[in-house]
Amino acid sequence: MTKQHPARALCERLEIELPVVQGGMTFGSDARLVIAVSNAGGLGTLGTFHYRTHEQIVAEVEAIRAGTSRPFAVNVPFFEQSEPLVERLALEAGVRCFTLGGWYSARVAELREQLGLTILVSVNAPTVARMVLDRPLDVLIVQGNESGGANGAFTTRQLFELLRPSTDAPILLAGGQWDGFDLRDALARGAAGIQLGTRFLFAAESPLHPTIKQQVLSHNLKRPLTTTLTAVKDTLNMRFVANKAYRQAEKAQTIPEIFQDKEQVFALSEAFFAAQEKPVLLYAGTGLYKLRAIQPCAEILAEVRRDYAASNAAELPAF
Ligand SMILES: Cc1cc2nc3c(=O)[nH]c(=O)nc-3n(C[C@H](O)[C@H](O)[C@H](O)COP(=O)(O)O)c2cc1C
Repeated sequence: MTKQHPARALCERLEIELPVVQGGMTFGSDARLVIAVSNAGGLGTLGTFHYRTHEQIVAEVEAIRAGTSRPFAVNVPFFEQSEPLVERLALEAGVRCFTLGGWYSARVAELREQLGLTILVSVNAPTVARMVLDRPLDVLIVQGNESGGANGAFTTRQLFELLRPSTDAPILLAGGQWDGFDLRDALARGAAGIQLGTRFLFAAESPLHPTIKQQVLSHNLKRPLTTTLTAVKDTLNMRFVANKAYRQAEKAQTIPEIFQDKEQVFALSEAFFAAQEKPVLLYAGTGLYKLRAIQPCAEILAEVRRDYAASNAAELPAF
């Protein structure tokens, strides 16, 4: 019997049609985006770090349930309150699928067993992987430093090659992934699918303010934007759009300071929700140069599916 491709295992486990997951994004994903992705056949993921109260998160979860009957995930990154947040959302709000950003505790493994939770764990370094891979998980996400968001010293492909022998779980590639050609390459390498952050940050339904989307798009169509990796703490990098706001912050050496203080991160990131005339300091992944339009999620996923089918049919020369 031929072994099932990990992408099929992933789709069955997550009950999705296409092996594409929308990465949970602090300041970048809310109920509207999650609904749009899940309704289009991918897995939408709610970011949670930017909500100041538990009630706000529960309200988003309820809004998602009202907008889709498809599965969705809730992302909980590593911070002091991560474990109680998962526990309350699972026990009180009935959330059944979580993406844990860089952590996985014994208590959550216990809840997985008791409640039948689906646990995706995202890792950005082998040291983080070592702390989570001895617990039973449903999906491993390797988030390389091409990604928008907190990342480490390794690229997505390096992390995949390094961690692949350590788990039987399906693996998603996150970082710099954008289209159906990337999906094809990921599946050809034995990954189970791709997680997209930046592409969905620029989707029509994301909470990023339309003036910022338009500004970045207009610039990109004239001169493709690059991104740059900046060390914000000893083991933590962030990738920013290499725009004027970034160059100014870099010159003033203010970026590492921002990430010492949650309130400063909030202040920086709340700018994502407001109308902007000038470029803002913005995190984004290396795939950004491919942004060609502000598309609804259904169109993005239809395009990924189409390009995947086209590239998968390509006949490569035999040697
Ligand atoms: C604005 C932004 C915020 C993010 N916030 C989080 C987060 O709160 N938790 C998390 O696990 N990952 C976070 N990420 C990472 C994404 O979930 C995803 O893995 C990553 O963006 C994939 O790389 P890409 O941006 O190149 O597509 C964030 C990414 C972006 C762009």
